[in-house]
This record gives sequence, C-alpha cells and structure tokens, in this order.
Amino acid sequence: MRDATFLAEQNAKAIWHPMAHPGELRNHPPRVIMKGEGVTITDLEGRTVLDAVGGLWNVNLGYSCEPIKKAIAEQLAALPYYSGFKGTTTGPAIELSHALCRFFEPEGMVRAFFTSGGSDSVETVLRLARQYWKVRGQHDRTKFIALKRGYHGTHFGGASVNGNATFRRNYEPLLPGCFHIAPPHVYRNPFGETDARKLAVLSAKALEDEIAFQGPDTVAAFIMEPVLGAAGVVVPHESFMPMVREICDRYEVLLISDEVITGFGRTGEWSGARLWKVRPDMMCLAKAITSGYFPLGAAMVGAKVAQAIESNQDSFGSIGHGYTYSGHPVGCAAGIAALEETERLKVHENAAARGRELRPMLEEIRARHELVGDVRVQGLMAALEIVSDRAAKTAAPAETMTKIQNGAYAAGVMIRVSGCNIILSPPLVITPADVAKIAEAIDAGLRAA
Ligand SMILES: Cc1ncc(COP(=O)(O)O)c(C=O)c1O
Repeated sequence: MRDATFLAEQNAKAIWHPMAHPGELRNHPPRVIMKGEGVTITDLEGRTVLDAVGGLWNVNLGYSCEPIKKAIAEQLAALPYYSGFKGTTTGPAIELSHALCRFFEPEGMVRAFFTSGGSDSVETVLRLARQYWKVRGQHDRTKFIALKRGYHGTHFGGASVNGNATFRRNYEPLLPGCFHIAPPHVYRNPFGETDARKLAVLSAKALEDEIAFQGPDTVAAFIMEPVLGAAGVVVPHESFMPMVREICDRYEVLLISDEVITGFGRTGEWSGARLWKVRPDMMCLAKAITSGYFPLGAAMVGAKVAQAIESNQDSFGSIGHGYTYSGHPVGCAAGIAALEETERLKVHENAAARGRELRPMLEEIRARHELVGDVRVQGLMAALEIVSDRAAKTAAPAETMTKIQNGAYAAGVMIRVSGCNIILSPPLVITPADVAKIAEAIDAGLRAA
C-alpha cells in the first residue's frame, strides 16, 4: 500500500464515488478508512470511532469476524473462482443455496439465484417476475408497481421502480411500465393522515386502485422494502404488508420483498417479511449475506414461481439471465460462515434489544433539540429527520447536516447523513454501552449545529 501522503494527495482525484458530485468531493475529499476492528473503524489520521453506519447497512457482525476471514482465505487457497453457468458449479454455491433455503423456509423460499449485490438481486427478481408470467401464458403481465421513496438499487430495472427523483432524473427515460404509490410514511404523506393504522389502509387502497387502473392482467409484481431504508427508515404500520399481500393475492400480482437491508436480522427479526408475518413470492438479498466481507447477493424464489418455471418445457422455462460471478465460490464461502455466525450469535435478538434502548434515547434527544423533527426506529435501523422549522417540516440544509455529522465524528461516532436524515445502522453486535455512546455523539453533533 502507498504511504499516507500519497493517499491524502490522490484522494478523490482519479476516482468517481457513488452518489456524489466528483467536483465537490475533490474540494471536500472523503475520509479514508484504513482499519476496522470490532465495531470501530480507524481513519488515515489514526482516529478510531464507533461505526454507527455498519459499513453501509451491511457489516452486521463487525470487522473482526474471524470465521468469515478464515473461510475466505481457505476458499481462495482451494479455488478462487469457477463458473456457475450450466455445466459446472462449486461446493460453496451448493452449500449456501441449501443453507439459505433452510433459513428462509418460513418465508416460503425454495431456490436461490446468486448475484454480486443488491442491484443485481433486484434486477434478477424483476426479470424472473416477467418470466413467470410468460411461462404462465399471461404475456401482458409486464408492469411493476412500487412505493414512492423506495430504493431498489441502480440498475435500469431497479432505478425504474425506485421512488426517489435523485436516483432517476439523470438517467431517464427509464423502463416503461413502472408505477408508484404513496408509502405509509406518517411524518410526510399526501393524505394528511397522522394515524399509522389508518394511513396503512390508505396506502394499501392506493395500491389496489393502481392495480385496478393499470388492469390487473397487466401487472407482474409489486416490489417493496418491508422497512424503507434509504428513504430514512420509514416503518410501515404492522398491518400494511399483510394488507399488501392480501391485495396482491386477490389480483394475482406477485409480491417481491426487497430485503437487501432488512434480511438477516437488522429489523429485530430474521427478515422484514417475517417481522410483518408475510410470505412474499420472491426476496432480494445482499449486504449482510456476507456481512460485507465479499460482494454477494441472492434472489430468493418462492415455491409458486419456482414450480411454474421449473415445470415449463418450452424456451420460456430456461433462465436467460446470470452473472460471471453468480455463485462465486469465495463469496459463497463467506456467506456460509456469515450465516453460521449470524445464527449462532442470534444477532436479530441483539438488534431488537439494542433498538429498544436506542429509541427512548433518540426520543429524548428530539425533546431537547428543536432541529429533530422525527425519530424512527426498527431494530437497529434508525433515523432522525432534521428540520430547520419544525412546524413547516422544512428539511435542514446540507451545511447543518455536515455540522452534525462532523460533531458526532469528533465525539467518536461515524453516522450517515442522507438528505435531511441522520441514518443509523450499526453492526448488530453492539453493546448497551455502544448504544449510549451513539446517542451521546448525536447529541454532541446537534449541539455543534
Ligand atoms: C433495499 C435495497 N435494495 C437494493 C439495494 C442495492 O444494493 P447494492 O448497492 O448492493 O447494489 C439497496 C442498497 O442500499 C437497498 O437498500
């Protein structure tokens, strides 16, 4: 590795970073993270802070998970790569597919299709949804409906079902046939409804209206995050997803649960679908599937879709989709070890318990700081929405958000800023003391702002 002076000089010079303006980053270069240990990270200047971002919602097991590191090293030594295209496969791919179908059996999942990350997993389920309707002989069922504010990655399919203009405008025109409904977001919704249960009914009704308007026989699938992550941890009322399931069933629309963030325990349950007691038709996985140690994702397929595609004898039954790295043996070896550790440590229970401690601390911060408009927590995904005017709910400007973030960092905690939201997604192995430290650092950041 080149020395610190070189890294500092060349930072943001020859690289374009995701979700950032290249010129702006050149003027304000990103922090260089050099080391991770436990739930902490250390930057180029040698400052060690608690990572309340958890990498990017993904390092659920922290940075020192030896079983994953060992599994990666051993697989690299044995076989660093082989293709999973028809004709060959590898041991880790077989083993992880088996383990994932066991783990997500309560959700009704029976097959895994491996990808290299979340956007790939979304692209895969969208394509499989269309293929499902082709094998069923309903060729007009090609449309997708999704939630406004939802985030489903950055491929053209995912961007087309995304519900945030920031990720859409520069890349339009997107895929035709994608439509959006208002999500059940209590703090900001077009209905003026503040009761979460009533709002869930209104949003579900909007879905039903949209399906009817489009023509049910033209709608392939509805895709949603069980808890909207990138939108700023929008937590629907518990009745919402079951109502969505019921509506999808009534109109025979497939239900896709995008669990790229919510899979593997972050919500306090093993999946968002399990949290809301729903069995989707397909699921998208990535991120914590390897705890971030290797880029890997999976599209999980439920029995109905699997049966239809597998039993089809004409050309529509063959899966004309895949990636060079589908079922990468090193990624799958990492995934097997990550799943074993995830289950052994019962990280979902710790996420639920620590989230219960975090919520009152953040509520208390909201009571003391006029800047905090809303607090939303589900397990260990949390957001504070920062506003410059509480009554008008005016989003705080970027300078305020930067001040809060820098203040928290100076107090020893890395937090994420997305628009006017502070987003928290720490490793699921944090302790009660870590929770208190995160709350104190946010308080310090808010005071700095
Ligand atoms: C719900 C959801 N779906 C899909 C994605 C895309 O995943 P990736 O960034 O790995 O492509 C993300 C990323 O944050 C996500 O939160």
